[in-house]
Amino acid sequence: MVNVEICIGSACYVKGSSQVVNDLNALIKEKGWEDKIAVKGSFCMKACQNHIGLGIRINGRQIEGVTAQNAREILDRELSAALA
Ligand code: FES
Repeated sequence: MVNVEICIGSACYVKGSSQVVNDLNALIKEKGWEDKIAVKGSFCMKACQNHIGLGIRINGRQIEGVTAQNAREILDRELSAALA
């Protein structure tokens, strides 16, 4: 099981983290990953303070440079690699 945490803190919410949750859920459905990926919300993981984009972790590893615009592409790439 691959664990994805998405920050639902206020700085990330303002930058579109709820849209990222929707995009991720759509991606999981499209790819048939429902049994392979667990999505959880997280409190602030300091990505905002470190200016590295939205707070997203995959199996505990912080993913840098994620925005609401590129999230789908990055998550597709990272999750495909994590599941390979
Ligand atoms: S509010 Fe999301 S990392 Fe800080």
